[in-house]
Amino acid sequence: MEFIPVLKLDELPAESSKIVKAGNKKIALFHYNNKITALGNACLHRGGPLGIGHVKACYDGLYVSCPWHGWEYNIQTGSAAPGYEDQQSVYEVKIDDNQILISSEPVIQAKKAFHDSPLLDDLKNLRYQTSPTSLNILGISATNMHKDLPRFSTSEDALEKSLAFATEQLGAETRMIKLRDLEFRHCEGYYSQHMQACNWPCSITEMNPEDGMTKVYADMILWADIVVMATPIRWGQASSLYYKMAERLNTVQNQITLKNKILVKNKVAAFIITGGQDNIQQVAGQMMCFFTDLGFAFPPFSFMGWSRGWTAEDMDKNVMQFKKSDYVVRASKELMENTVETLKQLKRMNPDKITAPKPRKNDSWSSEIENPDQNY
Ligand code: FES
Repeated sequence: MEFIPVLKLDELPAESSKIVKAGNKKIALFHYNNKITALGNACLHRGGPLGIGHVKACYDGLYVSCPWHGWEYNIQTGSAAPGYEDQQSVYEVKIDDNQILISSEPVIQAKKAFHDSPLLDDLKNLRYQTSPTSLNILGISATNMHKDLPRFSTSEDALEKSLAFATEQLGAETRMIKLRDLEFRHCEGYYSQHMQACNWPCSITEMNPEDGMTKVYADMILWADIVVMATPIRWGQASSLYYKMAERLNTVQNQITLKNKILVKNKVAAFIITGGQDNIQQVAGQMMCFFTDLGFAFPPFSFMGWSRGWTAEDMDKNVMQFKKSDYVVRASKELMENTVETLKQLKRMNPDKITAPKPRKNDSWSSEIENPDQNY
């Protein structure tokens, strides 16, 4: 077999790793325990650069963790961590004088195991459950409370009123997601490693389909025609649970950046915002900005709010007055009427004609500059 010189030996000190090029391949070289080993640099998951991953002793040997999402490979055998079937490609290494050479072809071929569940497969292949006539309304409640101590939530109550009206009077199919009931991880910022590290479906969901956001992705992206987002006001903002969910929706918006692929088309969003003190318009504005970046459209008067104002610190009377309010009952219905009417109009639009005037990866001034550490 042919061997290719790739690096001087003294350029790879003990306890270090480096990415080198052999022909048109990028190889991760490791120098640990007085031995030099070589693996394919592109992680089998999404192509993260293994040569700049962290190496540590664990399981039955030395393993490198991919810097993108943490898949692990034995740096000698290329095998994945115990319990996984993946096999990274391994190259033979020779030392000649002060020169490191590696085989031109791998001596062990890469093999990616099958990881997908049926739901992941639906997400990956965007098997939408909407139709030209469907009226699927998803309510998402972002209020937080301890599940063993449930209390009355004004935002959730208004959402329940809206959904009940939509079911009974407008013939909608409705579902409700209570974010507090879902166990889901925070966005872990893979995008900051590389735009390709944040892909669809979300890497966290892909690594763990049991993660609670899988339900949000499936219901919001595949099933819903309308999303009604309900949140309390917390320090003038939507709740922290809302933001936890919103950060995990980066995966949806990022498809536009990466592939000019719009996942959300012909869907409408509306909002319910309640708080003891005010800031309703600010919260609505922030949420509308985010949802329009996902691709949602809005009805006229796209949110309803409830607040008793800046001095209303007598919170014990908030629920009491909310429950007596005719306005809440009326607004919960009117919000849905406007939203459903807007959806009917929107369904007449040709989704193929919807474009996203957003930055794409090639719009960056530095897009032509190569980063030698990365595989893309
Ligand atoms: S773990 Fe390597 S690319 Fe995701």
